[in-house]
Amino acid sequence: RTVALIGAPTDVGAGARGASMGPEALRVAGLADALRAQGVQVLDRGNLHGPANPWQPAQGGYRHLDEVVAWNRAVHAAVHAELQHGHLPILLGGDHCLAMGSISAVARHCRAVGRTLRVLWLDAHADFNTSELTPSGNLHGMPVAVLCGFGPTALTHLGGASPALHPSQVRQIGIRSVDPGEKRFVHEQRLEVYDMRYIDEMGMRHTMEQVLAGLDDNTHLHVSFDVDFLDPDIAPGVGTTVPGGPTYREAQLCMEMIADTGRLGSLDIVELNPALDERNRTARLAVDLVESLFGKSTLMREHQVRRRG
Ligand code: ARG
Ligand code: MN
Ligand code: MN
Ligand code: MN
Repeated sequence: RTVALIGAPTDVGAGARGASMGPEALRVAGLADALRAQGVQVLDRGNLHGPANPWQPAQGGYRHLDEVVAWNRAVHAAVHAELQHGHLPILLGGDHCLAMGSISAVARHCRAVGRTLRVLWLDAHADFNTSELTPSGNLHGMPVAVLCGFGPTALTHLGGASPALHPSQVRQIGIRSVDPGEKRFVHEQRLEVYDMRYIDEMGMRHTMEQVLAGLDDNTHLHVSFDVDFLDPDIAPGVGTTVPGGPTYREAQLCMEMIADTGRLGSLDIVELNPALDERNRTARLAVDLVESLFGKSTLMREHQVRRRG
């Protein structure tokens, strides 16, 4: 297996500055070596380039639309190229608006090769706003809606065809902050949401069994990991903390159960904000969780699977 790291150092879609430093913080935390320790070959492609953050108010319901389009075109091209080489792309964000570029590329690739795409959206937020619904205009609150065909044409058509995704291809996990209009739209579009209430009542194991039900050998799993998914007590280095997220153990189990499927095909690590972190601990935690996502476990996998199954 070969993994390609693609840095996208920008915070144009966010409401706080600093996610632009995410890629380097993940490298400093040892991401490449951690992956190599899991037996994967790692190609660090360095960072993409794009416009600076103009830090302007919203226009027509969007902040920095032109800049978000430019960054996402670059991300789309880079992620698509890696998939065509047979590599597993890891997007190092950057804020979560960049998932429009990465997931549109994954969807385009899956369409071309006839694979079934399922997106696991690990996040405190549903990121399902539109220009009419958004309270902020920040495009990092809109990527799921855009990928499902709701948004400005320049973004909904990044991969040519639109929509890139049908809502039934998405599973959201860890959700605990959804804006009022956004909530109505989530229900209307029938997004499959495993919110914190569900995880509290049913446990992470049952949650992930639901999330991962029905996969087959033809499934490409994309994990979009917004670091604010995690409880802020363990992951303070994000711009939009929401209390009451998954604990360290719950997050580890979530990653391990995804790894056990063997279907991981691409990954985003987004919203890490080193300006708000404490001595890079959130980046180190993210790396720790990515190790589990790539198969690190205490015991041999065979033993784990037998015990569970
Ligand atoms: N729902 C809020 C908004 O739309 C917050 C979105 C936060 N998104 C994120 N990727 N951190 O402004
Ligand atoms: Mn190669
Ligand atoms: Mn979030
Ligand atoms: Mn998000």
